[in-house]
Amino acid sequence: MNAEQFNELVRRRRSVFPDQLEPGKKVDDAIVREILTNAGWAPNHGKQEPWHFTVFSGEGLQKLAVFQSELYRQEAGENFKEITFAKLQQNPLKASHIIAIGMKRTDNKNIPEIEDIEAVSCAVQNIYLSVTAYGLGGYWTTGGITYKESAKSFFGLREEDKLLGFFYIGHVAIPSTGGARKSIEEKTTWING
Ligand SMILES: Cc1cc2nc3c(=O)[nH]c(=O)nc-3n(C[C@H](O)[C@H](O)[C@H](O)COP(=O)(O)O)c2cc1C
Repeated sequence: MNAEQFNELVRRRRSVFPDQLEPGKKVDDAIVREILTNAGWAPNHGKQEPWHFTVFSGEGLQKLAVFQSELYRQEAGENFKEITFAKLQQNPLKASHIIAIGMKRTDNKNIPEIEDIEAVSCAVQNIYLSVTAYGLGGYWTTGGITYKESAKSFFGLREEDKLLGFFYIGHVAIPSTGGARKSIEEKTTWING
């Protein structure tokens, strides 16, 4: 791949949301393993590799759906909304695979926690780009139970770890359009001398 092709891949990457995926059409586990391998090649301070992924597919998607919707029901209290419950129960079944994104806090406490989170975010970008390269769709969601302490243990995470959300993967039924960005010049300051 040359630089122009890489530029094109990066700029073509779009989030593809659950209702845009082809329900029931499976992605090969072997491809998901390649995508995860790319995630593991992300930069990380201190070579601690602070990511932990839990992959749901097949009947596993139903387990995730039940877990997250029931946890929401238990903890929402008077904020409970039927539509949120239904989404948490139904959305996982629209994906082929869902990767729960965990940050496992490194033992090397010289590394600030934020850097472990940043490293996992780099890993997620590798997932996004790999999904695009395979012609698949997906997105990172931090909705639902993402930041609930009580959710962590289900994903093999300890108190000091963090659940950073979920990456949905599937075949694309309805491609995303748009994706405009501001000029990067507006977000950049050059100091040349
Ligand atoms: C940390 C993070 C959390 C996100 N969480 C959500 C989410 O909870 N729900 C959602 O619809 N999209 C979520 N997204 C995806 C964004 O909506 C998406 O990246 C944005 O709309 C830009 O579109 P693009 O990815 O196609 O460029 C998240 C993205 C990031 C980086």
